[in-house]
Amino acid sequence: MFEGMFEIFNNDNKKKDEETEISYPESLSSSEPDSSPPTYSNYSSSKIFVISVGGSILIKNKPDKDAISAISSCLNDLIRQGYKLVLVVGGGKIARDYVNTAKDLGANNFELDELGIRVTRANAFLLSMAIDNAYPQIITNIKETDDVLAKGKTPIFGGLMPGFTTDAVGALLAEYLGGTFINLSNVDGIYTADPAAHPTARMYHEISYDKLLQLLTSNAMKPGQNLILDLPAAMVLKRSGLSAFFLNGHDTENIKSAIQGGSFKGTVVRPEAVEAIDGDEPVVSKPKRKKKPAAKKKSARRVIDDEYEELNPDHIRF
Ligand code: UTP
Repeated sequence: MFEGMFEIFNNDNKKKDEETEISYPESLSSSEPDSSPPTYSNYSSSKIFVISVGGSILIKNKPDKDAISAISSCLNDLIRQGYKLVLVVGGGKIARDYVNTAKDLGANNFELDELGIRVTRANAFLLSMAIDNAYPQIITNIKETDDVLAKGKTPIFGGLMPGFTTDAVGALLAEYLGGTFINLSNVDGIYTADPAAHPTARMYHEISYDKLLQLLTSNAMKPGQNLILDLPAAMVLKRSGLSAFFLNGHDTENIKSAIQGGSFKGTVVRPEAVEAIDGDEPVVSKPKRKKKPAAKKKSARRVIDDEYEELNPDHIRF
């Protein structure tokens, strides 16, 4: 009799699951092996922008509905205009709060990263609620992006693996898709020095990856620095040779203009950039004069061999 009663509960639950089940496109749920090339996306029919949305844009002390509505309506407009966007959402203060509490409870670094990833995915899911054509599941495999884009949906990611950041995920996605990387944060762009500590710091309008890496490595040495991009992300972008834009995530008109190819306030990093501070003429660096290669110094062994050659050209053995 009890068995029968529980059967009723089981059936009820089953029905509930069926009702609430989200159906995903077949090609994504299938376990068929991926026949696409291992390192490069199949999706190349239009320009793709991978947008790394810093958690601080969406969340202050708690999720900020107005800020989420503002950024999502900007992204929805761009998607409606035909731009292919791939979104990666960061953790922000809420992730740091979780991580700090877990640290106090004795969690190790791997566990802290796992917790951070879960918070970034929760933030990503929250943003997905406001994106009109969002794929209804936070994606955890970069290679699924092709299928989702081909279906006219916007792929949304949080973090992927411990030891990483969401910017590094965005950089890898941009590399995989051959897209442009866009970093949205609380600051307007990349500065000559930390603008919070140095009021005279000026923003670059354009710099090269070598300059970016130089700025990041010199700042990474100083404790407590909040870097605009982490080194692994910068190195992936450098090796891929793609352009990367650093923009203020609260200035939605500026974001649209940058993506539409108009004028914008922010910093663009390109492999062959001509360094320029915002508002100044570009700094055209003088072409380096090629140095004449210095004549090679003969090694002591070579000197002895040459002298021997002169004295005994026929190599007669004595
Ligand atoms: P974020 O990428 O958001 O870190 O991931 P962040 O650099 O603090 O970025 P902002 O502040 O949002 O701009 C939050 C945390 O999640 C873990 C890391 O612990 C990271 O500090 N994480 C994230 C990973 O371990 N792997 C990932 O792929 C992403």
